[in-house]
Amino acid sequence: MRFCSYSLIFAILFGNFTKEMNIKDITVRYAEPSDAKHAELIVRLIYESALQRGTGIAKRTPEYIAQKINSGKSVVALHGERLVGFSYIESWSHGDFVATSGLIVDPEYRHLGLAGAIKAKTFELARLRFPFAKLFSITTSLPVMKLNSKMGYKPVTFSELTDDNEFWQGCEGCKNYEILLHNNRRMCLCTGMLYDPQQPLPEADRPNPYIIKIKNRVRRLLHLKR
Ligand SMILES: CC(C)(COP(=O)(O)OP(=O)(O)OC[C@H]1O[C@@H](n2cnc3c(N)ncnc32)[C@H](O)[C@@H]1OP(=O)(O)O)[C@@H](O)C(=O)NCCC(=O)NCCS
Repeated sequence: MRFCSYSLIFAILFGNFTKEMNIKDITVRYAEPSDAKHAELIVRLIYESALQRGTGIAKRTPEYIAQKINSGKSVVALHGERLVGFSYIESWSHGDFVATSGLIVDPEYRHLGLAGAIKAKTFELARLRFPFAKLFSITTSLPVMKLNSKMGYKPVTFSELTDDNEFWQGCEGCKNYEILLHNNRRMCLCTGMLYDPQQPLPEADRPNPYIIKIKNRVRRLLHLKR
């Protein structure tokens, strides 16, 4: 009897747990002005995660995050009304570069592939709004490096990134800022990663001329038959 009630409690708890943790229930979309109400929570999540990881992080204010949301430069992940993830983009060097920044996933929603979904949406937003810009991010996070690599970003030295002072001043709130200054902004603890839309596609993604020829032949044949 006791076993039954334990298993019932477990089933209820576990049932809710899996229900809550299903990524299909989470919406990842471009942020709208009404999402600015989540700005304080976003800042808190970013700050608490940085403390926990013991890494440096550029500090952002709720006003800064709200401005990113209001200007259509961010992506939110929502589980119902609850904000569970966020990221934003910002253009630098007069639009030649776009940084993807501020990626955060609520600790209760990690390891579901949510960062991947947010990164993909942020990438889409950046390419849509700044189709000719080079995209970059600076990070100490292994998951972020993995995700960036999958999207075609390459690790680069800081000399390949924007030289816009305002961008680097954003690092002032990071505990490693002195290291950055000490190295004349050439390197720090973060790894710079760059996606260059002009770079040639990896061999696997390059269209094979023979396949194109065969496809064209088939298309022509089908066309003639009609
Ligand atoms: C980093 C972070 C966004 C990852 O979010 P997530 O939703 O758990 O990540 P995903 O489930 O999409 O996983 C993405 C990849 O990273 C890997 N990964 C996730 N967490 C990891 C960890 N702690 N260590 C190593 N790899 C990890 C996953 O295995 C996956 O790789 P795969 O596609 O090869 O399997 C989240 O942990 C977070 O918010 N951390 C604090 C904030 C932060 O570090 N932001 C980045 C600042 S630049």
